[in-house]
Amino acid sequence: MSDTLLELPLLDSVEAAPRTTSARQGRTPSSRSVYVETYGCQMNVADSETVTSILGSAGFALVSTPEEADIILINTCAVRENAEARVIGRASQLNGLRRARPNLTLGILGCMAQHLATTLPTRAPWVDLVAGPDAYSRLPELLAQTADETLLDTRLSRSENYIGIDPKRRSNSTNAWVTIIRGCDKFCTFCIVPYVRGRERSLPAEEIIRQVRGLAAEGFREVTLLGQTVNSYNDGHTDFAQLLRDVAGVDGIRRVRFTSPYPVDFTDRVIEAMATTPQVCPSLHLPVQSGSETQLASMQRGYTAAHYRDLVGRLRAAMPDIALTTDIITGFCSETEEDFQQTVDLMQEIRFDSAYMFKYSERSGTHAARAMVDDVPEAVKKERLQRIIGMQEGISREINAAMVGRNVEVLVEGESRRRADDGTATYYGRSPQSKTTIFAQPVPAHRIIHVAVERTSSHTLFGRVIPPTE
Ligand code: SAH
Ligand code: F3S
Repeated sequence: MSDTLLELPLLDSVEAAPRTTSARQGRTPSSRSVYVETYGCQMNVADSETVTSILGSAGFALVSTPEEADIILINTCAVRENAEARVIGRASQLNGLRRARPNLTLGILGCMAQHLATTLPTRAPWVDLVAGPDAYSRLPELLAQTADETLLDTRLSRSENYIGIDPKRRSNSTNAWVTIIRGCDKFCTFCIVPYVRGRERSLPAEEIIRQVRGLAAEGFREVTLLGQTVNSYNDGHTDFAQLLRDVAGVDGIRRVRFTSPYPVDFTDRVIEAMATTPQVCPSLHLPVQSGSETQLASMQRGYTAAHYRDLVGRLRAAMPDIALTTDIITGFCSETEEDFQQTVDLMQEIRFDSAYMFKYSERSGTHAARAMVDDVPEAVKKERLQRIIGMQEGISREINAAMVGRNVEVLVEGESRRRADDGTATYYGRSPQSKTTIFAQPVPAHRIIHVAVERTSSHTLFGRVIPPTE
């Protein structure tokens, strides 16, 4: 790990294209409205909440459609190539709004902004602003300066944690995301994240508890602690196991989740904290990536498939009802049919509740892009991906089918987009194992109820509300 740390981010650039006076300058923030659109992982959702909080405090008006906005900010993902392609397409479409609004400011934020800092102004010269994940505190200032050429702020910081900023949570959500650790120091060979999100740093535990208390006071009953390697959390005084207990101890918080843990840093202290703290939900997203020892070694994941199996064994021994989900990559450099078969075997053996499965997408700047050959043909990557998607679908369906006849505790989220067969509304929430559960009886959001499961699909439980006994 330490030698990879010396490979400092290639894309850590500080740059500003020359500024000239613009018709956009001189407008006061309060006269400008902002719309933020988010792509990618939960960290990006949480970051957009930080951005809207910063801009709201600076006097910008927040609006919910691009058509109403003077400023459109797209918070992006760089993890896979197709995510980037989609964002460029969407940005170009939004640029069309300029015809009706010549003063429109269009900005690209986040991981892709960081990744493509140097090429974006050429690929999409109509983009006014490119700001990386550590530049958000400077956004009000940057927006005041928007010039005729693209402004870039992609400085990565070793310390930016947005302390004291209360992210502006979406009002229709019952779960609040709380970022506890930013960046990543693991440098898995396929992954762009350490280059675009910079070095790992933990927020002070007091700041996290302050935020969680505020959320509980607002009525949130569930928090999900976030980080690229969330269980590597340590602020110098509090480790992740202790933080879990402290967050669970905040009055009003009934459910605590976290995502995504890094298997190597999963200590027995954390397993014990999970198993003995009732508020910590028995559900875990534990990315494995591959079942092949050779592949795991060339991915530099830091663990073997044997270690991973052992960890799953310890988790299940401590929490027999734990739901496990994972991430898998097919077709990483040199993956043979035999390597792939080992992934299939591991998935069949562990039987994850569900899995996010991806085909390998080479990312410029990563170790794999520099030193390995992306040699698995696209058609093979795709075919392997389809095979595990089909297999996992069957496993998920079987695991959920075993829930029929059982009662689950559900934190209600609200009205579901799904209609019942007779066209009437349905409602939904999530079980402790994070399964979406649908029922017909209207129950207000944030309420915790029990549902008798009557039927299931591979992704959803359906049932009826059990009336409280008292
Ligand atoms: N630790 C992070 C991982 C972020 S990336 C977390 O919190 O989830 C999310 C997932 O995308 C990874 O686990 C991996 O399965 C996948 N991924 C990352 N880089 C990829 C690439 N170059 N090609 C395909 N999938 C990739
Ligand atoms: Fe990426 Fe590995 Fe970190 S997958 S986010 S480099 S733990």
